[in-house]
Amino acid sequence: MNKDKVYIETYGCQMNFSDTEIVASLLKAGGFDIIDKIDDADIILLNTCSVRDNAEKKIHQRLMHLKQYKKRKNKLVVGVIGCMAERMQEKLIEEEDIVKIVVGPDEYRLIPQLINQAIGGQKGIAVELSTVETYDDITPLRTEGISAFISIMRGCNNFCTYCIVPYTRGRDRSREIATIINEVKDLAQQGIKEITLLGQNVNSYTANHKGQNIDFPELIARFAEVAPEIRFRFTTSHPKDISDKLIETIAANDNICNHIHLAMQSGSTRVLEMMKRKYTYEHFLGRIQKIKELIPDCALSTDIIAGFPGETIDDHKQTLQAVRDIRYDGAFMFKYSPREGTKSYDMEDDVDEKEKLRRLNQIIEMQNNIALELNDAEIGKTQEVLVEGSSKRSRDDMMGRTGTNKVVVFPNNPPCKIGDLVKVKIIRTTSATLIGKRI
Ligand code: 5AD
Ligand code: SF4
Repeated sequence: MNKDKVYIETYGCQMNFSDTEIVASLLKAGGFDIIDKIDDADIILLNTCSVRDNAEKKIHQRLMHLKQYKKRKNKLVVGVIGCMAERMQEKLIEEEDIVKIVVGPDEYRLIPQLINQAIGGQKGIAVELSTVETYDDITPLRTEGISAFISIMRGCNNFCTYCIVPYTRGRDRSREIATIINEVKDLAQQGIKEITLLGQNVNSYTANHKGQNIDFPELIARFAEVAPEIRFRFTTSHPKDISDKLIETIAANDNICNHIHLAMQSGSTRVLEMMKRKYTYEHFLGRIQKIKELIPDCALSTDIIAGFPGETIDDHKQTLQAVRDIRYDGAFMFKYSPREGTKSYDMEDDVDEKEKLRRLNQIIEMQNNIALELNDAEIGKTQEVLVEGSSKRSRDDMMGRTGTNKVVVFPNNPPCKIGDLVKVKIIRTTSATLIGKRI
């Protein structure tokens, strides 16, 4: 019998990309084929994000577009999974007649069954949140490559006032350590060279192991020891729990990348309070200083929101000043987007769209200039680069990333292959790339 073919399209954060690998694994075990060409699909799943309104708008547009596939293949089943499924629930089925199944992040085990019912003509919805589901017995169906994600915890307990995540992904829960260690060992055996540990708040990881409590620094130190040939990254960390112990652990282990993503959100303590971030700007700056002191060449990246309710020009200037002072290597910068159901949705969204955009653009411009300056400062330095493939522009060039997550392009001479760690001297830069040569 021919197996039904499933095509999964993923939107949003790395956690969603990691979840798609879990869903693909569950589907394969359930007797489906996973394909990467949408035209052949019997089932199309969209794994979605709800964090900002435009992320959801994109999905609505995509669903409109998918109607043409439905016209061509009447028995096509379309499903929406992930955060938007959890947030909208039955409304999605009511509003979008093409959608037959809706599945939230903690109910992925039900997807094969729901698809089978949908093939039989029955619409299905599963959106219960769980306090324990971590999918730790599922081996993700990973696409080939030298890098892999491992989700080590799920959910979030912080309830920052602007954020929908605690409502779409539920409470914070950590995976059992033994299952993660086995996954790390398996990946090492398969020749994986880089692992990114994922969680909404990886540094709030805590699990009991043989009667002993293991926290995130202990966990990552253990991995660094178990798999010395693998480079470890992690994301994302909350500034309130980036401990000295974690910074010291990164400093002490060569194979834990010198790159920390720490979402600042705002440079104004007043706004941080309204956001319920649980730290002051001074505390945040103190953490950054500690990182710079213990790991001088550590790359720093951040998230910033412009135009939160009640943000004054003075608050905005403090954010600009923070960007100027801290000098991030990279930043994700967003306009505030009110999300129904969150605390800040009830606050007056009083910075108008034009002003939000103006503030956002100011932050982006300043940040881009700083990133360029920091890239230029790399000229003349030698970097260790993990080779990821040939460069998009030229087959004679290879590309890879430094531990600090900067993209480096260099002539393939002497020749190297994907997965090699090579030394490259940086000779010039373009806006987002370092150009170098092997030494
Ligand atoms: N509006 C704008 N940005 C948001 N983020 C989360 N919620 C919102 C929102 N309602 C941003 C934060 C977070 C990142 C993942 O998305 O900066 O760190
Ligand atoms: Fe959202 Fe805050 Fe949790 Fe991050 S820490 S997922 S911003 S509630």
